[in-house]
Amino acid sequence: MKKITIAIDGFSSTGKSTLAKQLADWLDYIYVDTGAMYRAVTLFAMQQGFITDAKVDQGALENALKDISIDFKKNESTGMADVFLNGVNVEKQIRTLAVSGLVSPVAAISAVRTKLVSQQQKLGQNKGVVMDGRDIATVVFPEAELKIFLDASATTRAQRRYKELIDSGDKVSLEDVLKNVVERDYIDSTRKDSPLVKAKGAIAIDNSHMNLEDQFHVILQLAKDRIAGRI
Ligand code: DC
Repeated sequence: MKKITIAIDGFSSTGKSTLAKQLADWLDYIYVDTGAMYRAVTLFAMQQGFITDAKVDQGALENALKDISIDFKKNESTGMADVFLNGVNVEKQIRTLAVSGLVSPVAAISAVRTKLVSQQQKLGQNKGVVMDGRDIATVVFPEAELKIFLDASATTRAQRRYKELIDSGDKVSLEDVLKNVVERDYIDSTRKDSPLVKAKGAIAIDNSHMNLEDQFHVILQLAKDRIAGRI
């Protein structure tokens, strides 16, 4: 059967990764969470002391980019791919609010983007991939057969993220999570390099009032149509 590329972009905490995983599982495609890669670079910068008072030492990080290796490996107990930074599993650490609070400025650095986009293009070079992020349909795979742009209200997204963080044991307040969501929206969509915008040909879906099941079925049908060459 013909394999396609599915690009899912959107604001933070719109459920991109949940949707991408559901599609990849159903279609038996590779799933790539590109946000995790920017988070891993941010964690590296924090560990190396390249970030002070939320200011990133861009020169130091750029010089050290060659020393960063990011891989995904399947976690047999969860069935999901965990992120490894230089051989160490950092899946839990990269999801904390501390990393979320610093990732957008790191992701705005062009040298970081060039390195990660090139790795993402290699991961998806044989198609049969579902990739989620901010610039997948605009920069990484502008030729993707199916492009989805997800949105939801900032309050809905903050509530979803707050629940995830509390469930994973991170002690956060809803107010701080909402602040982070709004800040990241602003930085991600106004940065110079590859800002978050809806790509030409992308299908926009606001899922504020949609359940996961309904959303999945709508988009799966779109994917099946593309695979069959119906649209
Ligand atoms: O999807 P996420 O929340 O895990 O992404 C974390 C940050 O990484 C997000 O605030 C913006 C950045 N990002 C990006 O600039 N480009 C991507 N393709 C994916 C994420």
